Amino acid sequence: MTMVCLSDFEEYAKQHLSKATWDYYEAGADDCCTRDDNLQAYKRIRLRPRILRDVSLNDTRTSVLGTEISFPVGIAPTAFHCLAWHEGEQATARATEAVNTCYIASTYSTCSVEEIAAAAPNGYRWFQLYLYRDRKLSEQIVRRVEALGYKALVLTVDVPYTGKRRNDIRNQFKLPPHLMVKNFEGMFQEQTSTQEEYGIPANTLDPSISWKDVCWLQSLSRLPIIIKGILTKEDAELAVEHGVQGIIVSNHGGRQLDGVPATIDCLPEIVDAVQGRVEVYMDGGIRTGNDVLKAVALGAKCVFIGRPAVWGLAYKGEEGVREILQILHDEFRLSMALSGCRNVAEINRNLIQFSRL
Ligand code: FNR
Repeated sequence: MTMVCLSDFEEYAKQHLSKATWDYYEAGADDCCTRDDNLQAYKRIRLRPRILRDVSLNDTRTSVLGTEISFPVGIAPTAFHCLAWHEGEQATARATEAVNTCYIASTYSTCSVEEIAAAAPNGYRWFQLYLYRDRKLSEQIVRRVEALGYKALVLTVDVPYTGKRRNDIRNQFKLPPHLMVKNFEGMFQEQTSTQEEYGIPANTLDPSISWKDVCWLQSLSRLPIIIKGILTKEDAELAVEHGVQGIIVSNHGGRQLDGVPATIDCLPEIVDAVQGRVEVYMDGGIRTGNDVLKAVALGAKCVFIGRPAVWGLAYKGEEGVREILQILHDEFRLSMALSGCRNVAEINRNLIQFSRL
């Protein structure tokens, strides 16, 4: 089977994963308006290419938080990679190390942060965390990732509660007995009788999370803090005022509040509000190199892919994720060249036809 574009991997994953697993990865909240709009929104954007600019050499490299990566695409944090491939997050980590880009490891990984670091010792990694009712749990995991050389903390702020994903309820989705959230192995034993959500005690996340917790996290660690899940200029401004180092414009792949705009449609107002004071990244609906070009043109320093990485895992583990990243890289390079951009710095808003939007 020749895999030409990311949807080929999606089709493969749909055919080969169990229904419950496929449904979990695919899920959006409620009517899935936002999940679907994340993809559609890129298709509404038209480009203004420049010609005759000698595109015989194209440099796709960029940097995030001062570290060079091979192109402006990284891996978003997604849960439970062992459901898609037996080596799980270790395979994802090796693939991103090989391609030299950034992997944001999820709190809800089925390999531990130690196993992920050991699998790809030279990989560039950030760690995504939630805030737990038990602050000691948050503190412990922060200490572990600091010691392991993870380079930033990505605080996900759009999950005070889990969104309503209908098929997960219908399927009574939960992790099979041989898998677990490895980062918390043994920590929840005394609570096993409580109601669970995806195999984790349902009341673990703290819905009282607020800006003062961002300050608390800053007091705890000197790692850069990136807030994931901002959709408005008001919150972007607050994030900058609170001294964070980065923002990920994200609606959690449409899995949380349905009816919010596509992330690519939120990006410009946030980039305008931030005015270069911190780096702005985005995720949601990136499926082609052309999508990456549009996001970078609208001000994203880097974009992150969620579901496509999981499809790559389902296809062939590490090799599958590498192929996904390679295809996106090749497509991005081609789109750059066809639009007259020789390097990432040349990709800017002049590339976007605003009159149509
Ligand atoms: C996610 N996402 C997510 N985000 C996070 O901060 N922590 C997590 O554990 C997870 N887990 C997770 C599981 C699955 C199956 C999906 C699809 C998503 C959200 C993720 O980081 C990202 O925001 C979206 O996936 C981006 O959208 P695309 O690329 O999937 O369209």
